[in-house]
Amino acid sequence: MSQKPSPDIYKPSKEFSKQARISSLAEYKRMWQESIAQPEKFWAEQAQELTWREPWKKVLEWKAPDAKWFVGGKLNITESCLDRHATGPRKNKAAIIFEGEPGDRRTLTYAQLHKEVCQFANVLIGQGVKSKDRVLIYMPMIPEAAIAMLACARLGAVHSVVFGGFSAESIADRLSDSGAVHIITADGGWRRGKVVPLKDNVDEAIKGNREIKSVIVYQRTGQQVAMQKDRDHWWHELTATASSRHQAKAFDSEHPLFILYTSGSTGKPKGILHTTGGYLTGTYTTCKYIFDMRDDDIYWCTADVGWITGHSYIVYGPLAMGVTQVIYEGAPNFPDFGRFWKMIEDHGVTIFYTAPTAIRAFIKAGDAFVENHDLSSLRLLGSVGEPINPEAWRWYHQKIGGGRCPIVDTWWQTETGAIMISPLPGATPLEPGTATLPFFGVDAAILDDSGKECKANEQGRLVIRKPWPSMTRTIYGDKARFKKTYWSDYEGLYTAGDSARRDKRGNFWIVGRLDDVLNVSGHRLGTAEVESALVGHKAVAEAAVVGRPDDLKGQAVVAFVTLKAGFDETPTLQKELRDHVGKVIGAIAKPDDLHFAPALPKTRSGKIIRRLLKELVTTGSVSGNLTTLEDFSVIESLQQRLAKR
Ligand code: PRX
Repeated sequence: MSQKPSPDIYKPSKEFSKQARISSLAEYKRMWQESIAQPEKFWAEQAQELTWREPWKKVLEWKAPDAKWFVGGKLNITESCLDRHATGPRKNKAAIIFEGEPGDRRTLTYAQLHKEVCQFANVLIGQGVKSKDRVLIYMPMIPEAAIAMLACARLGAVHSVVFGGFSAESIADRLSDSGAVHIITADGGWRRGKVVPLKDNVDEAIKGNREIKSVIVYQRTGQQVAMQKDRDHWWHELTATASSRHQAKAFDSEHPLFILYTSGSTGKPKGILHTTGGYLTGTYTTCKYIFDMRDDDIYWCTADVGWITGHSYIVYGPLAMGVTQVIYEGAPNFPDFGRFWKMIEDHGVTIFYTAPTAIRAFIKAGDAFVENHDLSSLRLLGSVGEPINPEAWRWYHQKIGGGRCPIVDTWWQTETGAIMISPLPGATPLEPGTATLPFFGVDAAILDDSGKECKANEQGRLVIRKPWPSMTRTIYGDKARFKKTYWSDYEGLYTAGDSARRDKRGNFWIVGRLDDVLNVSGHRLGTAEVESALVGHKAVAEAAVVGRPDDLKGQAVVAFVTLKAGFDETPTLQKELRDHVGKVIGAIAKPDDLHFAPALPKTRSGKIIRRLLKELVTTGSVSGNLTTLEDFSVIESLQQRLAKR
C-alpha cells in the first residue's frame, strides 16, 4: 500500500489491485450504481453461482418489512457449502485446519467434512430431529461445532448456537424462547488452559426440564460428566453406527436456517431469524468481493461460532467459497500473546479477520510477541465488531500487515447477516477508522430525525433503504418487536440502531449505538439485561447500568446499585454481585465497576436518568440540563463517592 496523497489515506497497492476482482474505485462505483439501480439483477447473478435444485420464479417479493428472496427457489444450503466441493476438484482440499488450545491439530478435507456432516445428520434423524425443529448448539470452537450446524441445516432443522461463554441461565432462556428440545454440546472446551464445563452448564440449564428429548455430547476434554440415561448420548457412540451417506432434501429459499440471540434495549435477548437462499447469497458474495477469497488462500477468522461473525464468515460464506480455513479453539493469549502470530506463521495464513478489541490487547502486550514471527504470508486483513480506533488500525496495518496488506473494516450486524459497509481491498482507498463505502446492492444512508439525509459530516441515524438478501426476516416469535425495533423510525426503511456520519468522500464513520446497548469487546450487551440480572439478586433494590469508554474493551460495564434494607455496602457483596451477573449472563457481562448508590438519579415521574450516570462515569462530573432531575443531591453524592475512589 502506498501512502498518497495524505499520510492517512492508503490507496490500494498496484499488486493487490492487479489480481483483485474489483480493481479500481471507478469500477466499484460503476458496479455499485448498477447494483442499486437493479438490485435484483445483481443479487440474482450472484445467487446463480450457488447450487439450486429448483430455480426461483421471482427474485424478490417485498412489502416492508417482509422480504422473500428467490421466491420458489429450492436448495439445500449444504450442497453449496459441501457437496459441490466434495464431489469436484476440491475433494481433497483442506476445508478446515483445526488447532486446539492445547496444540492438537487436525485437518478435514472437503470430502471428510461432507462425510462427517452426512453422518451427523443421520445421527440427528435417529434422535427424531425433523425439518423446522429447533436445535440448540453449545460447543467449543472445534470443527464439530460447524459439523453440528451444517448437519441441522442439511435436515432443514433450525440451529440456535449459544456462545460457550454464556451461562446456564442464558441457555435456559434460549431453550424456552426457541422451543428447542434437542441440544448438541461437548463435555468441555479449552480456554486459557482450563476446561469450560459446557455439559455441566447444560445440565444446570435443563434441571427438571422434561421437554428435552436429547443431549448429544462430543468428548473434547475428557473430564467426568453426568450422562442421563436415554436422554444424553456420546457423539462418538452415535456416529460409530451411523451411515455416512445422506441424500439431502431441497428446501424452500425462505426456509428458516437459524436463530441467533442478540442483545437489545430490553432485558430479553432477541432471537434473530435468518432464512436460507438469501443468507447464503449474501455471505458468499461478500466473501468473494470483500475478502477476495481464492482457491490458494488460507483464511482465518478468529470469531466464535456463537456470534454472527462465526456463522457468516466461518461456516456458511467461506465454505460456500470452497476456501481453506483455520479454526482455533482457545484464547488469543494462551500460552502467551504470540499465539495468533505463531499460528499465522505455522499455517501460512493469507487472510486474517479479527476484532479491534483483540488488536488493542496485542498492542498493550507489546510488539515483542509479534516480532519473532514471520507474517509474510498475509495479504489481507479484516476488522469487525466496533469502530477501529486509528492507532489500532495503524498498528495492525504496520505490525501485522507489514504495511502491504489492505484492511477491510467491515460494518454489519447480526440482523444484516452479511457485511454491509466495507472497503473492497483492490479498489477502495482506506482511511483508519472508517468502514468506507456500502457493498453492492446496499443502499445505506444517514438520516436526521425528520428523515432528511444528513449533510456531509453531520451525524445521524444509519439506515438501509432497500432490502438485501441476507436481512433478518423477523425476531423469532415476536413480529411486533421486529417491526418496532427496526422498521418504525422511518416508513419502509431499516434502522440499524447506530449513529454515523459520512464525510465528503462519502465514507461512512460509525459512531456507536443509539440504543441502550453497549459494545463490550465487540459484543453487544444490553444494559437492561445486566440490570435485570442485578435486581435478581436478593440484596439489590435497584440497578442502573451504563457504559464508559475503555482502552481495551471499547466500552466497560459500570453498574450503580442501591441495596435493600438490611444489606451492607461491603467489598464482599460487591464481588458477589459481579459474580452473580457472570453467573446469570456470562463472564463478558460482569460489571467492570460496581458502585453502591444510596439512590439513583430519577425524573419526577420516577425514570432513572442513565444519561447523567453515563456522563458521570465518562467525565467525572455532570453538567448540562439537570432540570428533569427530581433530587439534585443524588447526583452530588454519587459524584463525591466516585471522586473518593
Ligand atoms: O454498533 C455496530 C457495531 O456492532 C453492532 C452489531 O453487533 P453484532 O450484531 O453483535 O455484530 C457484530 C459483528 C458483525 C453494530 O450495530 N459494529 C460492527 N462492526 C462495526 C461496528 N461498528 C463500527 N465499525 C464496524 N466495523
